[in-house]
Amino acid sequence: MVAEYAHRPVMVAEILAALRVRPGGRWVDGTLGSGSLAACILDASRPTGWLFGCDRDGAAIEAATRRLAPFAGRFEIRRGDFADLGDWIGPASCDGVVLDLGVSSPQLDVPERGFSFQHDAPLDMRMDDRQLLTAADVVNGWDEAALARVFGEYGDEPRARRIARAIVRERQTRRIETTGQLAALVERWAPRHGRKRHPATKVFLAVRMAVNSEIRSLQRGLAAACTLLKPGGRLVVVTFHSAEDRLVKAFGRDQTRDYTHPGTVDVPELRQPRAPVLQWVQRRALAPDPREIADNPRARSAQLRAWEKV
Ligand SMILES: C[S@@+](CC[C@H](N)C(=O)[O-])C[C@H]1O[C@@H](n2cnc3c(N)ncnc32)[C@H](O)[C@@H]1O
Repeated sequence: MVAEYAHRPVMVAEILAALRVRPGGRWVDGTLGSGSLAACILDASRPTGWLFGCDRDGAAIEAATRRLAPFAGRFEIRRGDFADLGDWIGPASCDGVVLDLGVSSPQLDVPERGFSFQHDAPLDMRMDDRQLLTAADVVNGWDEAALARVFGEYGDEPRARRIARAIVRERQTRRIETTGQLAALVERWAPRHGRKRHPATKVFLAVRMAVNSEIRSLQRGLAAACTLLKPGGRLVVVTFHSAEDRLVKAFGRDQTRDYTHPGTVDVPELRQPRAPVLQWVQRRALAPDPREIADNPRARSAQLRAWEKV
């Protein structure tokens, strides 16, 4: 008996509409997870739509392969990073790419994967278990400045430096090996003060992002997605927290401009004209309907952004 790998994707109707899923199209799901969203894309593009799917997680690939079996002959799945989609899918060959970012429910719910402080388990957090770097390596090996930067930049944790200092002090006496140890340490140095959210939430998110190089993958993945799209093809990205949403928004802003500029500062006198790569489908991010949020709390922080290839 195979354990169930169930994940409820958010904003499915909005994603299908933004992608304009239709028969005959070629779609890419860079974050297959359980395959539930991919199944909706294949269903809505019957009888001739095609789907390329990838995920870094071996268990997700197995689950998606089972989930998509009824659509045999209309999809190809590979295990890997969406940053490398351009290595196996031709340029300007697809009608839509979707990235439904973050982690899936089964990743959070399996204690041994070490993503969650809800269970005490070894600090792991690898989406791809073939990778060597684990959360324990980050927490026990990175210096104080690097940890503080990760907690601040990826987790928006205001007490980043204090928590980094506490971790470095703690590990001089013993290694921090489990999710429970890390959560308790953070709680000691950043008490809850009546807040509902566990004080370690942001630190866990930040460590996960560091372990899986999520920002670097996302930068490369967005660029790869743009090259795969035909003119008129759609890029749809669903984010769940501010570090990834900032990056996606900045990427969209950059690709919709009709100029480039040298360096990181946009000096009007130094602008070089060029044709925009993308155009906005809608300028503001879409949020889930309140009914969806009531029904699926994971949807609460979701934001959907969509662009069209020029
Ligand atoms: C929110 S879940 C997607 C759920 C999916 N839409 C579904 O219907 O089940 C995010 C998935 O993206 C995968 N993932 C995250 N970053 C990735 C990357 N850089 N490359 C490939 N997969 C990635 C995770 O392993 C996880 O399975």
